[in-house]
This record gives sequence, structure tokens and C-alpha cells, in this order.
Amino acid sequence: MQPNVTSLAGRCGIVFGVASRRSIAWAIAQAWHDAGAKLAFTYQGERLKENVEELVSSFGQDTPMYPCDVTRDEDIARVFEQVGKDFGKLHFLLHSVAYAPKEALEGQFLDTSREAFRVAHDVSAYSLVAMARGAAPLMTEGGSILAMTYHGSVKVVPHYNVMGVAKASLEASVRYLAYDLGPRKIRVNAISAGPVNTLAARGISGFTQMLQHYEERAPLKRNLDPKELGTTGLFLASDMSTATTGQVVYVDCGYEIMGM
Ligand SMILES: NC(=O)c1ccc[n+]([C@@H]2O[C@H](COP(=O)([O-])OP(=O)(O)OC[C@H]3O[C@@H](n4cnc5c(N)ncnc54)[C@H](O)[C@@H]3O)[C@@H](O)[C@H]2O)c1
Repeated sequence: MQPNVTSLAGRCGIVFGVASRRSIAWAIAQAWHDAGAKLAFTYQGERLKENVEELVSSFGQDTPMYPCDVTRDEDIARVFEQVGKDFGKLHFLLHSVAYAPKEALEGQFLDTSREAFRVAHDVSAYSLVAMARGAAPLMTEGGSILAMTYHGSVKVVPHYNVMGVAKASLEASVRYLAYDLGPRKIRVNAISAGPVNTLAARGISGFTQMLQHYEERAPLKRNLDPKELGTTGLFLASDMSTATTGQVVYVDCGYEIMGM
């Protein structure tokens, strides 16, 4: 019998970035869970704990949850120490975390302060490097690391500003990490998603027009369904994609191919 390459049964993963039911991380976690994975979750702080607790309880009361502010090395270290104790090993990791101060997402990129630039890169790009370093020793059977990105990394999207620059750094980090971790059979990829109405997205001014713009211009003439991020997340975490690493996979109804 052929092995079931779509199954994640017997494998363990960790998800960074669930804040609400609308979070992209939640869509991907559901797909991983439905494929049989055992999952652990992190939450940013006490403010989000209850939300995340309520959501993950649907995966079973014993689903591990750890607090983690990704700007704190000690939090990241504690998470992986705990994963080692709870699971003993790790097969996949989702980085679905980003932040930039609100004022940096409104005016001109030209006016980005040193501090806003630093914070955006620390939370949205460097954290992937820190997570990969924490996760790799637990990925003894190989693994898949997945990050979420957006097209504002390669093209100018008004108002996306410093977040676009941070996403460019995140995508380059995906490639360098893929090179470093390839010999350990650990793959690193990113999904570049079209707009999805989440808490983070609402921080970008003009987001509603963006949804409309995509619907009009994308070849598929619609916006994506978050479930489609789940299925692509499953593809990239599972044995369906064992020769794919260092890639940015677009899930945007084709918007990215358009020149006009
Ligand atoms: N929503 C979209 O349109 C869209 C499109 C493309 C890519 N993305 C990316 O998807 C990812 C998830 O965003 P989302 O849209 O699901 O929004 P979301 O608000 O649901 O998720 C963002 C997450 O980042 C976490 N976070 C922020 N700062 C943190 C910190 N210091 N420590 C720990 N966690 C922190 C938040 O707690 C939250 O869980 C982000 O990387 C985002 O850039 C979103």
C-alpha cells in the first residue's frame, strides 16, 4: 500500500500566532489537526490567553499552550524546553506573527522612525530565526517550518510601508534558513496570502478597499477562503512537499501574476 502523504498522524507541531477565530494561524492549525497532528499553541500574553484557550479546547483539554512574546529570547527558550517535555520531538512549526506600530502603517514610508523599523523587524522577521533555532534540535526526524508573508515584500502596496520591508526580510530569512537546515531534512517555506480580514489586517489603513481591489483584479475574481491557507499549510507541512524548501508560495487567487 502507498504511504498516505496527506496524513500528519503521529506528528507534532507548534503554532505561533493564534489571536482569534479569524487568525490565519487558526485556519492552518485546523487543517493540521484534521490531518491527525498533535498540536501545541503559544499566545502573546494574558490579554489573549482566554481567547486562545477557548479555541484550542476544541482540540482536547490537554492541548499544550505556552505564553510567548516573540521579542523575548527567554520566552522562546522556555517554549521549546516545554515542547521537549510535552512532546519529546517536533515535526512542524507555524510562524504567523507580525506587528508594526500603527503610525508606521498610515503615512509615508519615508517617515518611518528608527524605533518602528526596529520593532517591525524584530517581531515580524527576526522571530522566525529565533524560533527555527529553538525548534531545530527537536526536529530529529526532519521537519517543516512555515511562515506567513505578503506581496508587499516585493511590490509597493500603499500604507503597508515598513511591514513590506519586514516581509522582505522574512522571505530572505526563509531562504537562508532553508539552506542552513536542509542537511537536517528541515524545510522552510512561506505562504504569501492575499488579504484576509483579521485583527492584524484591520490595522492597515485602506484594508477594505484592498479586498475589493483583489476581487476585481485577481484572475479568479474573488478573495481567498482561509480554508485555502489551511490546505496549502497542510501541503507544506506534510510529505506532499518533501522536495520543496526555501519557497514563497502564493495563495492569492492569482493576483500576483498581474502586471496591470
Ligand atoms: N490578514 C492578511 O491579510 C494577511 C495577508 C498576508 C499575510 N498575513 C500574515 O499572516 C500572519 C498572521 O496574521 P493574521 O492576519 O492572522 O492576524 P492576527 O492578528 O490574527 O495574528 C497576528 C498574530 O501576531 C501575534 N503577535 C504580534 N506581536 C507579537 C509578539 N510580540 N509576540 C507574540 N505574538 C505576537 C498576535 O498575538 C497575533 O496572534 C502575519 O504574519 C501577517 O503578516 C496576513
